Amino acid sequence: MKIAIDGPAGAGKSTVAKQVAAKLRFVYIDTGAMYRALAWASQQEGLAAIDEHAVSTLLEKNRIKLQRDDQGDAQRVWWNEEDITAEIRTPQMSQLASIVAGHPRVRALMLDLQRALAEEGNVIMDGRDIGTHVLPDADVKIFLTASIEERATRRLAELQQKGVETSLEALMEEIAERDKRDSEREVAPLKQAEDAILVDTTGRSIEQIVDQILHICQKTG
Ligand code: C5P
Repeated sequence: MKIAIDGPAGAGKSTVAKQVAAKLRFVYIDTGAMYRALAWASQQEGLAAIDEHAVSTLLEKNRIKLQRDDQGDAQRVWWNEEDITAEIRTPQMSQLASIVAGHPRVRALMLDLQRALAEEGNVIMDGRDIGTHVLPDADVKIFLTASIEERATRRLAELQQKGVETSLEALMEEIAERDKRDSEREVAPLKQAEDAILVDTTGRSIEQIVDQILHICQKTG
């Protein structure tokens, strides 16, 4: 069974997907982490995120590994032999990830990697284009959203916990800019699949959303 969860930045996709995966004993695959890993590596190499050729060649010649981690973050992220799980979770990496994700060549390479990962069996995959492009035949498609105020407030709490300093205003701006870039790109933009179920998480608890999604999966499976 394949479950696709898409939606804008900060809608709670990864939090919800991790919990659904744990309950169903599915493999959780965070595709945003792959774009973040590439953004991080591009910066380490001194490449400009807008340089499609350089960034896509870097991806071709290296290896991103997503590793299951039942203790901590549910998924550890590796660039070759380096564990970069924590490094990729900064506001700067969010922005750079959304720039490298706009390159058609990068998306084509990621598509192959992500489809190969989905072959692992029962998976729940989250991102922006899972229901529309990566797994168009997914058994369950969810489009998760929430008001921008709520998404920024949640992101603020998350970052504060990690000791990253920022403000609500800065995050609202950052999220709006990223959503705009993700929705307006030519290849595989952020969009609700026609057969996806819209779930608005504004004002609702994580438990409520997880239960709703489990219910949807039960009806399907
Ligand atoms: O989900 P997350 O915030 O980690 O994603 C970071 C960025 O990666 C997004 O803003 C988006 O530009 C890109 N992305 C994408 N397609 C996906 C997952 C993420 O374009 N399937």
